[in-house]
Amino acid sequence: MISEQAKQRMRDLAARYPVARSAVMPSLYIAQQEEGYITHDGLRAVAEAIGLTVDDVESVATFYTMYYQQQPGKKVIKVCTSISCYLRNCDALVTRLEERLGIKRGETTADGNFTLMTAECLASCGTAPVLQVNDEFVENVTLEMSDALIDEWERELRGQEPGRGQASPLPYTASPTGS
Ligand code: FES
Repeated sequence: MISEQAKQRMRDLAARYPVARSAVMPSLYIAQQEEGYITHDGLRAVAEAIGLTVDDVESVATFYTMYYQQQPGKKVIKVCTSISCYLRNCDALVTRLEERLGIKRGETTADGNFTLMTAECLASCGTAPVLQVNDEFVENVTLEMSDALIDEWERELRGQEPGRGQASPLPYTASPTGS
């Protein structure tokens, strides 16, 4: 259920844009922040707040990989598989992560800790291969690094280390003015 407070934040956002539909993406983030992924309630709340149809909002929510269609793991690992990362062995990286986590891309571990996904260009081609965990980017990733990262995240999720790569409420400013 999307809270009234979240709905008001969406309406406030829509009012700040010259064209209300420009608020669809940050509003979807608010919906995802509320429920962990994009539910039908979330789609409806965004549609009502900014004056679009649910189908309009859903077409955006299903286009971008940062909007989740089901509850993701605590750590969402996205491996870039676009050209620069492909040329720098991202396929081996995906395979290594699949082996370490015991899941295939697109799946979540049974304990709900990790979701593994592939993604289109993460805009860091000069430091390929690149992966993203929640809102944090990791560059020049080697197989050894990926092993060490999984170890680190597992310790963190067991409460033995302070977190890194925690999801922030919004990965970019929701303000059209950047303020
Ligand atoms: S191709 Fe991977 S970051 Fe651009």
